Amino acid sequence: VDLLDLPVRVEGRGDYTAGVYRALRAAIADGRLQPGDRLPPTRRLATELDLARNTVAAAYDRLTAEGFVTGRAGAGTFVTAAVRSALPARPTRRARGVLAPRRSWTAEPATPRSTGTPPRHDFRVGVPDAGLFPFDQWRRYVADQQRAGAGRPGSYAEPAGHPQLREQIARFIAAGRAVHADPEDILVTSGAQQAVDLIGRVLLDPGDVVAVEEPGYPPVRQLLASLGARVVGVPVDESGLVVESLPAAARLVYTTPSHQFPLGTPMTLARRTALLAWAQARDAAVIEDDYDSEFRFSDRPLEPLHVLDPVGRVLYVGTFAKTLLPSLRVGFVVAPPSLRSALRAAKQLSVSHTPVATEAALGAFMADGLLARHLRAARRAYRRRRADVVRALTAELADQLELVPSSAGLHVSARLRSGDAERAEAVAAAAAERSVAVDTIGQYCAGPAQAGFVFGYGALRDGTAREGLTRFRLVLTRSGRRR
Ligand SMILES: Cc1ncc(COP(=O)(O)O)c(C=O)c1O
Repeated sequence: VDLLDLPVRVEGRGDYTAGVYRALRAAIADGRLQPGDRLPPTRRLATELDLARNTVAAAYDRLTAEGFVTGRAGAGTFVTAAVRSALPARPTRRARGVLAPRRSWTAEPATPRSTGTPPRHDFRVGVPDAGLFPFDQWRRYVADQQRAGAGRPGSYAEPAGHPQLREQIARFIAAGRAVHADPEDILVTSGAQQAVDLIGRVLLDPGDVVAVEEPGYPPVRQLLASLGARVVGVPVDESGLVVESLPAAARLVYTTPSHQFPLGTPMTLARRTALLAWAQARDAAVIEDDYDSEFRFSDRPLEPLHVLDPVGRVLYVGTFAKTLLPSLRVGFVVAPPSLRSALRAAKQLSVSHTPVATEAALGAFMADGLLARHLRAARRAYRRRRADVVRALTAELADQLELVPSSAGLHVSARLRSGDAERAEAVAAAAAERSVAVDTIGQYCAGPAQAGFVFGYGALRDGTAREGLTRFRLVLTRSGRRR
């Protein structure tokens, strides 16, 4: 414990011993010194405080006599374990304070559920399997970037992101998604979330209308609202976002066309074309969040909106949260040149740049073909798990659940045929008690809850889908009988 800053006040007639005693007692009382902590040797503290050693030793004696500390021969003087009960209770709550956040910050977003023991049957959405991640390889790339002199660590870097990483992202999306972008059009971000944040900052004025899918991805809805936008939910049907229902005034549309979040429905080509025509007619921008389409399980390619956009209205957002790990916090946006400098400026003003070592490591990792290799293995694993989930859902639960067709991503969803959204919530809660974690469609609705479930298979253990869904079916059937 460093007590260099110990404020020793001397009151009265220069009673230094009392001053040292009070200062140490205060440090014990407010928790700076914890039970078991060792006090500095008297000689050292005396030197630091410019006092005689005896003065400090006398203070220690008094603390010992009163039971706050104990001397152990040859080891030093330690704060006693029972010290808390000897002291007046420390106020446990600090004053609440008089300041209030703006209204959009009064509701907290759902907290990430990555802590605690994972449930036995983990069908949670949006969680890739960290067990598939090539940690040993990755560690070498990161370590390489932590050498002195790598990436000029003593200075700030470009807000747009590490050049090699941007180049690799350009190649990656050209090969995998047919999205052709100049590396200069790519801005590396701290996940897809920051990409949407920056786009919102440069495109929206307070009060502007933004359209999002309903059901949809809450973090984006809440983020856009926090920027002062009026966020309007637009329904999704079996062809994707219902373009006819878009509010005429929308400046910006946020959509997940490859694998609608959370339903999974791919947007049909007709709808994609209609959406772009709509945006063109209204002078609006479109965010295409392509968050998990690297995991595609059909032969039919899902052509991104970006590919169909000849004029530069679509901002293509990608993330490595599913292909690698969410905690890496690396994503990107492909923006038209007309927004290039504004987006870079917004990034610079909010975070300067994303951590260079991670960016550089990822660029080299991709250049060496390791992302592609990891993806091949991950795709195989997820394809198996997905097939298991779909098989179990159609074999055992088809009487109660209707699978929503989809062909990509790390989750599938199913509507509850009875249409009872309250029941869906109750079933998910009861399943959680039996260690089966399932999301509901309702939890992704801003308006009236829709009845159904979302089954993620990213974190699911191999070969356990059937057992997990059998347990789930028991809970579901029981809840049906009770009604
Ligand atoms: C629709 C959608 N977009 C983006 C993301 C990933 O966001 P980020 O890259 O900020 O982790 C997710 C993750 O669950 C998602 O579901």
